[in-house]
Amino acid sequence: MSMKLLIPVASGLEQITKRQLFTLGYEKAPADNGRIEVEGDWLDIARLNLFLRSGERVLILLARFHAETFDELFDGVYALPWEEWLTADSQILMDGKSVQSKLAAIKAAGGVAKKAIIRRLADKAKSKRQTFTETGARSIVGVSIFKDEVSITLDTSGEGLHKRGYRSLAYSAPLKETLAAGLIDSTFYNPDKDVQKPFADPFCGSGTLPIEAAMKALHIAPGKNRDFDFTAWRCTPNGVLAQAKDEAFALEKHDIKPVILASDINPQAISIAKYHAKKAGVDKYIRFSVADATQFKSTDKYGVLVSNPPYGERLGEEKEVQALMGAFGKAFRALEDWNGYILTSLPEFERWFGKTADKKKKLFNANLVCGFYSYFGKPPKLQDEKKGEKNV
Ligand SMILES: C[S@@+](CC[C@H](N)C(=O)[O-])C[C@H]1O[C@@H](n2cnc3c(N)ncnc32)[C@H](O)[C@@H]1O
Repeated sequence: MSMKLLIPVASGLEQITKRQLFTLGYEKAPADNGRIEVEGDWLDIARLNLFLRSGERVLILLARFHAETFDELFDGVYALPWEEWLTADSQILMDGKSVQSKLAAIKAAGGVAKKAIIRRLADKAKSKRQTFTETGARSIVGVSIFKDEVSITLDTSGEGLHKRGYRSLAYSAPLKETLAAGLIDSTFYNPDKDVQKPFADPFCGSGTLPIEAAMKALHIAPGKNRDFDFTAWRCTPNGVLAQAKDEAFALEKHDIKPVILASDINPQAISIAKYHAKKAGVDKYIRFSVADATQFKSTDKYGVLVSNPPYGERLGEEKEVQALMGAFGKAFRALEDWNGYILTSLPEFERWFGKTADKKKKLFNANLVCGFYSYFGKPPKLQDEKKGEKNV
């Protein structure tokens, strides 16, 4: 059964997620309004939930229709074959948003849509005395209205896909895992090509970036340690997640030795990061240390540094952060041919860091507008060519 699947993506990560989809074999994946659309069956749903690194969730698009009134919304929702998707005990949760539409009160619209679903289930039930207990599997129904066009979706993921299952300890200002994975995929870190090229995060906090980098290097499916809502639905064919998990295990590479360096000045951060890495099954592939990022050095000629240093949001921290960025910039510039990528909300970052970025991209980190600043070292090939020239 082929279905239309929608993958909501954070602003700025659309192209990266499309590239991830392409690598997974989904060549046609148009993006619209923060959602990428692909065609797929139940096995695709399992695969996408399991393998996607930067998508936020996987939704089944059940219908799209025009509605300007609650009656039109009710009729559009009632017309769908809910009895094929839900059961009398389904726990139906409503989610949604409305943008530039006459049905602006989204809570009320969700209430109307839920009434239409229950009415449909009641009308199709064998017994007219059927009760709806909502004690069974969770089904999150999305009602999203944009310019009076309604999309009705079923959320196959449940918890957002950033919840990989490895990050259980609290830490201040951690990066969302889906964002961290997207940042890594936008860099020149390519462990399949050069597994020895180091990856470093000298402000690693709870470890999100190095853990995601290790998972990428080892081809570990990000969703392998968690469950998804669709597995508990009666309409889901048996064994699809198990089949996708078998594929995922077969792809893992544990016999490689990536060089992944994770450090932070705070010893508590390092013990949290180590714990998370262990839960993710990648602790033995990451070299952790308590260290000051301003002292970061490497004997490796090439490497990839990806980090989100402190933003210094509290009052009085600005001068401190300015000095930190200055000293860190100096340490980074000493690494001649490394590529550096910094995510920060500091408006003066480049000036404080002491270098204008080769590329800048606007991204959001927990609703904070940030810049993702890329600094490119000379690529190894160019270097070798130069060396060759000298030798002639
Ligand atoms: C925004 S947090 C990084 C969060 C991390 N990406 C995560 O996902 O958990 C910034 C980190 O920089 C660390 N830090 C502050 N000053 C530092 C310094 N001079 N050297 C190394 N780490 C430092 C803090 O301890 C904090 O963990």
